[in-house]
Amino acid sequence: MPEIPETMDAQVVREHGDPDAFEPATLDVPEPEANEVLVEVAATSVNPVDTKIRSGAAADLGPDAPAVLHGDLAGTVVAVGAGVERFDVGDEVYGCPGGVAGTTGALAEYAAADAATLAHKPDALSMREAAALPLVSITAWDGLVTRAGVEPGDDVLVHGGSGGVGHVGVQLAALEGGVVHATASTAEKRALARDIGADVAFDYHRDVADYVEEYTGGDGFDVVFDTVGAGADNIEPSLEAAALKGRVVATVSRGEASLDAVHSKGLSFDTVFMLIPLLHGDHAGRVRHGEILERVASLADAGKLAPVLDDTDYALSDVSEAHRRLESGEHVGKVTVRVE
Ligand SMILES: NC(=O)c1ccc[n+]([C@@H]2O[C@H](COP(=O)([O-])OP(=O)(O)OC[C@H]3O[C@@H](n4cnc5c(N)ncnc54)[C@H](OP(=O)(O)O)[C@@H]3O)[C@@H](O)[C@H]2O)c1
Repeated sequence: MPEIPETMDAQVVREHGDPDAFEPATLDVPEPEANEVLVEVAATSVNPVDTKIRSGAAADLGPDAPAVLHGDLAGTVVAVGAGVERFDVGDEVYGCPGGVAGTTGALAEYAAADAATLAHKPDALSMREAAALPLVSITAWDGLVTRAGVEPGDDVLVHGGSGGVGHVGVQLAALEGGVVHATASTAEKRALARDIGADVAFDYHRDVADYVEEYTGGDGFDVVFDTVGAGADNIEPSLEAAALKGRVVATVSRGEASLDAVHSKGLSFDTVFMLIPLLHGDHAGRVRHGEILERVASLADAGKLAPVLDDTDYALSDVSEAHRRLESGEHVGKVTVRVE
């Protein structure tokens, strides 16, 4: 193992703003505290929450300035803090340990990470591929497996089936035995959703009653996973698409939406907010994240689940461009950043 330097390259945000808010910085390499490991970061990926923290739209979720952003990472353990038993120096790991208030992020050559949040990197995936998975996989797992409890034969609707969360959601819903319906805005994105396991893919601009009739004979979907993230704007269409006693799970439910359909159809309505264990120091929640990622790694190594990477390739110094790409909405799958 090469010696750990005293300083490292990083990209930091001192003031919220557009993607050019990033600036290069030289920071001290952190020392891993008890229950932490020091990871030499090989890759990270961009999640919408990273762009919202950078822009100031979710400033309250971000680390103090100069802020090292980005939760997702894949890399190699180079030092182990007291009390860490699951990892040794040299282990390849992946996870979403930080980049939010009270933690440090992955846009740096090294990151000190709570070992509980990490898992062993799947051998079948490259560092970039592994870095694409943590935040979206934990979210999709919590939404579809833990909360909605997809069962074989369930009619499942995944909104945003080619997006970060949605493309893992499509794969997990299919693995659980659901009949998977995915929405996407373009023919290319719908083809991708079908390639990764959706039985049906259609344009989300269609009328809800129309697609509920076509794909469920008017009964509605047993499970609706709403990964749209337009505040509450898509909640009412998602509730409308659900069957009597259906389960609806959203990744963003801020704002106002009528819950009339929750009452009249006896729906369960749930929100996943995967940052809670990071923001609130919830150790049990962090352990769960590590466990979910170990299971996701097993699925990846068995060839049952894989990330789709956007057709772009950014270095740490190009992080502004990577954020622009995600914010353009033109990306397909995950936008990743090489740190090595
Ligand atoms: N609460 C949590 O724990 C959590 C975790 C992860 C993500 N999120 C939030 O969830 C949202 C999605 O994250 P992501 O990583 O999946 O982002 P992403 O990769 O940008 O994907 C967004 C997806 O939403 C789709 N979409 C946009 N408008 C839609 C509509 N009206 N109906 C159906 N689908 C629509 C897009 O489809 P097209 O590309 O075809 O337009 C795209 O597939 C973000 O707001 C993010 O902050 C929350």
